Amino acid sequence: MAVANTWYMHQAASNPDVGIIGCEPYINGVATLLGKIRKAGVTNLAVHPGDARDMMDVLPEGSIERAFLLYPDPWPKKRHHRRRFVTPEHLDPLAKCLKSGAIFRVATDIPDYVRQTMEQMMNRDDFEWLAEGPEDWRKPWSDWISTRYEQKALREGRTPHYMTFRKL
Ligand SMILES: C[S@@+](CC[C@H](N)C(=O)[O-])C[C@H]1O[C@@H](n2cnc3c(N)ncnc32)[C@H](O)[C@@H]1O
Repeated sequence: MAVANTWYMHQAASNPDVGIIGCEPYINGVATLLGKIRKAGVTNLAVHPGDARDMMDVLPEGSIERAFLLYPDPWPKKRHHRRRFVTPEHLDPLAKCLKSGAIFRVATDIPDYVRQTMEQMMNRDDFEWLAEGPEDWRKPWSDWISTRYEQKALREGRTPHYMTFRKL
């Protein structure tokens, strides 16, 4: 979710048999991505130019095999934490459209976002956290390609964290 154009194009090219939906309300980002999709002739990548929540509301139950939340807006002020994606308001509809065994990946450079993600996800009985040791959240996934925001975070000295959950 959210435009990271190179990331999307890489995902589409690496998984030609998989249908991918990107969600991004920032219209300039969508316009750039649509141009790249057309130029490259990519046919397995669709873009919803709006809130990811709207998409989850209309997707059939159990229809999604993977979901990616990559460097979501941090909403740093405490009173805004409830606007973060990792709240039941978003996680409940996400859980509904993920099929059993589906993978939900979260990447963030914000320690308090890690805290809230873990707090929320560990409180749920419909996901399990797939981590066996520190390497699992310190190292990116083996098929990972960095996003624009991750590059910015690294340049500015922040540490990425990678969390993987399985839908039960
Ligand atoms: C910090 S940026 C990260 C962008 C990209 N994922 C990356 O790693 O480079 C957060 C992005 O989330 C998008 N966004 C915010 N709220 C959203 C929502 N409800 N649904 C989909 N995208 C959203 C923003 O427009 C912005 O592009």
